[in-house]
Amino acid sequence: MTEKDFILKDFDLSGLTSGSFSWQSPSNIALVKYWGKSDPQIPKNPSISFTLNNCHTLTTLEFKKKDKVSDDFEFEVIFEGKKREDFKPKIEKFFKRIERYIPFIRNYSYVINTENSFPHSSGIASSASGMSALALCLINMEKEINPEITKEYFNRKASFLARLGSGSAARSIEGEIVVWGEHREIPESSDLYGIRFPFDVHPVFKNYQDTILLVDKGQKQVSSTLGHNLMIDHPFSKQRFDQARKNISALTNILQEGNLKNFVKLVESEALTLHAMMMTSDPDFILMKPNTLEIIQRIREYRSQTESDICFTLDAGANVHVLFPEREKENVNTFINSNLLAFCQKKQYICDQAGKGAKKAN
Ligand code: DP6
Repeated sequence: MTEKDFILKDFDLSGLTSGSFSWQSPSNIALVKYWGKSDPQIPKNPSISFTLNNCHTLTTLEFKKKDKVSDDFEFEVIFEGKKREDFKPKIEKFFKRIERYIPFIRNYSYVINTENSFPHSSGIASSASGMSALALCLINMEKEINPEITKEYFNRKASFLARLGSGSAARSIEGEIVVWGEHREIPESSDLYGIRFPFDVHPVFKNYQDTILLVDKGQKQVSSTLGHNLMIDHPFSKQRFDQARKNISALTNILQEGNLKNFVKLVESEALTLHAMMMTSDPDFILMKPNTLEIIQRIREYRSQTESDICFTLDAGANVHVLFPEREKENVNTFINSNLLAFCQKKQYICDQAGKGAKKAN
């Protein structure tokens, strides 16, 4: 599908005067990372992620038809019960970007009521779950106006819109494994939206566990957008983008064959490469904390001393995602409790696992 396929044409709004839609949309954790983009939110390399199950945003979009269409976007944002002016610029930018595809957006005024299942200041990125939840509410309005759209179109356009809000949000519509970004070995993959991993996945990856250790709950020092931009003149960018494409090929086989040794190697290398890119950009920046490294070290020790296939990954922050197969749940939880929680802020962590994607809420 091309960008033009997502433009809504010839619509009739007479049947939709007011109402509300609610969607619960998950966060996701990338295995092969998206780091580097061009306008408009086109990734420099494909990425692949596990959709999460427990970390999600619940958004209700109330809409009311305006008497007269005005030039501005009329909306209010309520986050966890409080009106938030500071959330508005990002949403306004999102509305501007998607207006071409959701042309009725200015015909309504909105109240966006949103909450996260995880603490806001946990350092867990809420842009993927937040933007995808809002995109789903908007495409739900489009479906109301144009009920003929198929489920596939609905999901693809939701992902397409979400991407325009935040790149990684494109991977939060479906589950359990999503690819975003064109790759020649993955049929139907696209830079414009995420698709479900199109091959059979080995059962060992079913309900794959992700325990998120909250090492540093502070605000991000460097926004993702700024970080992505530092890849433009980065001395290693070409090699990095080529490497990511090769890693997608390798991971495509690993996910089908269930080779956990290779999975561990590739996933940890991706996490460290992401941070290596940050540490070698100009200006450089370091998001890992001493406790991030301590945890990584301990995970590696545990792996070398046991038969475990535990591994770690990182996103743009200091928190550590501990990944392991469901069959190791009991042992790894014991290990985390006794050996890793001491390195988390206030011993905080979140147990999650691969999930099935966004859901309409009542
Ligand atoms: C490190 O999706 O947050 O988590 O498109 O600017 O909103 P924007 O960036 P964002 O970047 C996520 C980067 C990452 C890796 C990943 O999720 O693939």
